[in-house]
Amino acid sequence: KEQKYYSIAIDGPAGAGKSTIAKLVAKELQFIYVDTGAMYRAIGLLAVKEGVDMKEEETLGALARKADINLKYENGRQQIYLNGENVTDDIRTEEAGKMASAVGKVKAVREKMVDLQKKIAESDHVIMDGRDIGTVVLPLADLKVYLTADARVRAERRFKELTEKGISCNIEEIEKDIVARDYQDMNREASPLKQAEDAVALDCSYMTIEEVAASIINLFRKAVS
Ligand code: DC
Repeated sequence: KEQKYYSIAIDGPAGAGKSTIAKLVAKELQFIYVDTGAMYRAIGLLAVKEGVDMKEEETLGALARKADINLKYENGRQQIYLNGENVTDDIRTEEAGKMASAVGKVKAVREKMVDLQKKIAESDHVIMDGRDIGTVVLPLADLKVYLTADARVRAERRFKELTEKGISCNIEEIEKDIVARDYQDMNREASPLKQAEDAVALDCSYMTIEEVAASIINLFRKAVS
């Protein structure tokens, strides 16, 4: 008998708190958390390493096709390997985020990533976050959430995070980058960021992480009951 695996799709703009919240929900429901942004970040990193111009779409596509991207779970935490090397920490910079958004415009890159993501969801209960999860990767997800927050609130959270890490930064600059990345992600031709028709929109500007996680767990339980 075929086993039914549950899936939750979380989409939304940069810095809305998707990954923090998805990790909490994954822990509570004992699902695997899949951070799809990490995959685009890894390809962005590879492109920079290989000196490929972000406008060279064909070269980027070829690069992605031959790249070996592997997600592993160590102590329940996602580790991402690029051509055998653990790049989990290297991809977390603002720069890598920008590169990810740039390579994410390329259709051939997306096809490869979506394939990998679908495969992961075929063998485990997953909560997956990204930009095209509800619309493309998991069109039949048990629950789809479109998570948003005001750009200013997102910039403030990011500012706090970076400052706590001892990284000096400017909040206006961060907000500008966030808005630019959202614009690029929402206006690209290949599966742009948008709310799936059957997604629940959650504005978490004035909610705590725990409140958002609890509400997603409730929505999921209702959806599958
Ligand atoms: O979620 P994140 O900030 O790690 O994502 C980085 C970029 O990767 C994002 O700005 C656009 C791209 N991305 C995408 O196009 N599709 C996804 N499913 C996830 C990320």
